Amino acid sequence: MFKKTKVAAVFAALALVVTTAPASSAANTDMEIFTWWASGGEAAGLAGMTTEFTRANPTLKFVNATVAGAAGVNAKGVLVSRMKAGNPPDTFQAHAGAELSSYVKAKQIEDLTSLYKSEGWDKSFPKDLIKTLTTGGKIYSVPVNIHRANVLWWNPAAAKKAGITKAPESLDAMLVDLEKFKKSGIDGMALAGNGDWAIAHLFDYVLLASMGPDKFNGLWTGKTLWNSKDVTTAIKYFSKILAYGNSSKSLDWPDAGKLVTTGKAGFFIMGDWASSQWQSEGLKLGTDYTWAPGPGTDGVYQWLSDSFTLPVGAPNRSAGIAWLKVCGSLAGQDAFNPKKGSIAARTDSNPALYDDYLKAAMKSWKVDRLVGSTVHGVNYGNAGMAAYDSAVGRFYTGGAKDSKGFVTALTAAAKANRNG
Ligand code: GAL
Repeated sequence: MFKKTKVAAVFAALALVVTTAPASSAANTDMEIFTWWASGGEAAGLAGMTTEFTRANPTLKFVNATVAGAAGVNAKGVLVSRMKAGNPPDTFQAHAGAELSSYVKAKQIEDLTSLYKSEGWDKSFPKDLIKTLTTGGKIYSVPVNIHRANVLWWNPAAAKKAGITKAPESLDAMLVDLEKFKKSGIDGMALAGNGDWAIAHLFDYVLLASMGPDKFNGLWTGKTLWNSKDVTTAIKYFSKILAYGNSSKSLDWPDAGKLVTTGKAGFFIMGDWASSQWQSEGLKLGTDYTWAPGPGTDGVYQWLSDSFTLPVGAPNRSAGIAWLKVCGSLAGQDAFNPKKGSIAARTDSNPALYDDYLKAAMKSWKVDRLVGSTVHGVNYGNAGMAAYDSAVGRFYTGGAKDSKGFVTALTAAAKANRNG
């Protein structure tokens, strides 16, 4: 009897907690979102989706906790300390693939499988993409887009001046053109050394172009060894390409991109967010800049996907869920992607809203061979990615001389990824 009373008292106390909880979160009308989208095209994309969010949730206040730059390197540092301090935002940006698994392993994000069911998302996204968001049978984030990493960008006027009339189709042909740019008096390749990731992004492409998709995929499963001849060949190409780069080693990617659009550098290997960045600066696709698949990787789509999560302990959980619903909706994706320079993750988006580059990307995404981007979360988790980026960064700042040390550092990065 006494026991029963005690149990009843505990239940009464619990009921109090449960009934008072919504009241306190109802008072909180903030929806704090954490991203690294601060530059022109990124901010424009986010603004597109924010408008959609505010239209659907007029009582919630959109609080933008963007930490600028470096493809998330800076932001992730801040996020880690906020999570450690028990101060998560209501939602944060994470890439599909191994990066997402890092947060799942650390039990920092909630299972969203039931939201997929209630919103019908199991049918809206490609099955293979959902697999990269799934750990232990549970789906952990909502993908907003697909970006392509292996794109070559250039300025037609600068190319014409250098005697280049069409895009190179192999690494060797690209080296010939880099020399032509040099002879015309400009740097061949725009390089963004800030935060290491953009140099690692270039290296990731060179690995793919040099060894092809099968061996490239093998690097992340352990089938292709880092001390193999294939890697040595790729490093040789990489060193040659770096020799055609700009002298400043600390540019962020929008500034390196500007070298190309102002005719100071020839080529830029960058994800397709470069295009929306330039459009936000008033430049025109096809006139001021143009594109081709990264030389030697035509027919291969090196992809990455930005997605949003629901952090464990989000202060305004229901607002976080409201944001995720917009992220997964057709209206949200079509408001976001044309401005962000990516294609929708949903399969039913409207191509008429997208520019010619993105229309072509939509087609390629359906027919190309797909491989993941290492620098943007698909192949490696956060620990492996950080080690990979800094291995490439050290090789670059050291003058691209120490190939042996580079291989050792890349092997260590693979280990960091396994243990991370
Ligand atoms: C990537 C991200 C892209 C873009 C890029 C440059 O990691 O997925 O959406 O923002 O960084 O910051």
